[in-house]
Amino acid sequence: MSNPNDFPEGFLWGAATASFQIEGATTADGRGRSIWDTFADTPGKVLNGDTGDPADDHYHRYAEDVALMRRLNLGAYRFSVAWPRIIPEGSGAVNQAGLDFYDRLVDSLLEAGVQPWATLYHWDLPQPLEDAGGWPARDTAYRFAEYAKVVADALGDRVTNWMTINEPWCSAFLGYENGHHAPGRRDAAAALAATHHLLLGHGLATEAIRSTGHTATVGLAHNQAVIRPHGANAADARAARRADGVRNRIFTDPLFKGAYPADVVEDLADISDFSFVQEGDLATISAPIDFLGVNYYSPEFVAGSAKGIDPALVSGEGEAWLGAGPEEVHVSQGLPVTHMGWEIDPTGLYDVLQRLAGESGGIDLYVTENGCAFEDTVSEDGAVHDPDRTSYYEGHLRAAKEAIHAGVPLRGYFAWSLLDNFEWAWGYSRRFGIVHVNYETQERIVKDTGHWYAELARTSRFPV
Ligand code: NOJ
Repeated sequence: MSNPNDFPEGFLWGAATASFQIEGATTADGRGRSIWDTFADTPGKVLNGDTGDPADDHYHRYAEDVALMRRLNLGAYRFSVAWPRIIPEGSGAVNQAGLDFYDRLVDSLLEAGVQPWATLYHWDLPQPLEDAGGWPARDTAYRFAEYAKVVADALGDRVTNWMTINEPWCSAFLGYENGHHAPGRRDAAAALAATHHLLLGHGLATEAIRSTGHTATVGLAHNQAVIRPHGANAADARAARRADGVRNRIFTDPLFKGAYPADVVEDLADISDFSFVQEGDLATISAPIDFLGVNYYSPEFVAGSAKGIDPALVSGEGEAWLGAGPEEVHVSQGLPVTHMGWEIDPTGLYDVLQRLAGESGGIDLYVTENGCAFEDTVSEDGAVHDPDRTSYYEGHLRAAKEAIHAGVPLRGYFAWSLLDNFEWAWGYSRRFGIVHVNYETQERIVKDTGHWYAELARTSRFPV
């Protein structure tokens, strides 16, 4: 890496997606229903009443999309497997037609010279498992491990890179605490039980993948929040510690230290006694993983009180922060924002990589998601000019490169997302793709950022 514009040799350039966000075809070939089908069908839950159909119709257009990846010079593609396609009832009978789809996808990726990186759980829990209690129920973790084994048995001769779960904080807290995501429950104690069972599911699935006898590199994709105190005072420091506890350490301490953090257990004592933790669970959860996936979008600033802060900068008071009251508020720094309203600050990526490199004890790190939504339009020249997105990527990739220079074992980067897609509660209104999708015609147009990224992936070097 002698030239400062260069990434290290072998650095992996990829793009990421997730099953429910791109596949469409929600009733094809025996697929069962997931909690996101139910949630999207419930009026008022997803913007404009959008659902998982047609999404990008990737289920039928995967070959075209793989050809696109090749045009973009991608070395790797991160996708997720839809549990309801594989085991429609969540447990029991396996649906061969569902496995066949991923079989075809993996084969065409390999033919195109693109490494498949598979995520086993990117939020589409089979509805029957939610009906039986969902992630707050311990049984879901066991069902997840069975499903992981089925998929790893079927694809493990060709897929070597696995992520068990994606962003467990979102599944637990957006799904069960504030209800912004499926299944839309609002129960803080259930969110904590879900946290534990997602982690347990990760541990059990890791064992299941390794038990297949195939060569496997296993990790998870985690969205560690970058939480900074707004001001240099004790109340803001307290708020930041607490937020960091329920947002980050509640996941990373069990994974890397084999224990829940004592201060978090104490903070949450009124909500739960953590009696869902059984003997041996923490050993299962903390079994060493091969790599950690890091998803990063934006940092968050918190203050201990809204007093004295411009009300225009205060947002989401106490929201999704587990019972946090007015003593914990989000404060905007007044930086430029993306179409999600998320502030743009690449230093957050540098910080999170540094911190996780330390906490994970030197295992390989990958940025498994980073990207931004902007209000793209197709211009008269037929192109999509998205300079704000390009500069977002450039800023963050420069921060990633600095982290590598500082010794962080970052081995690759996946843009979120390959394609515009179903952005959860925002439906199709938020476009994260480096490729534009026309949802009427399903036409794909590589955005200017996609062309820029393809060149970077080809050269592994920033243009001078
Ligand atoms: C994280 C999630 O994993 C992904 O599904 C989502 O679309 C992006 N963040 C953007 O919000």
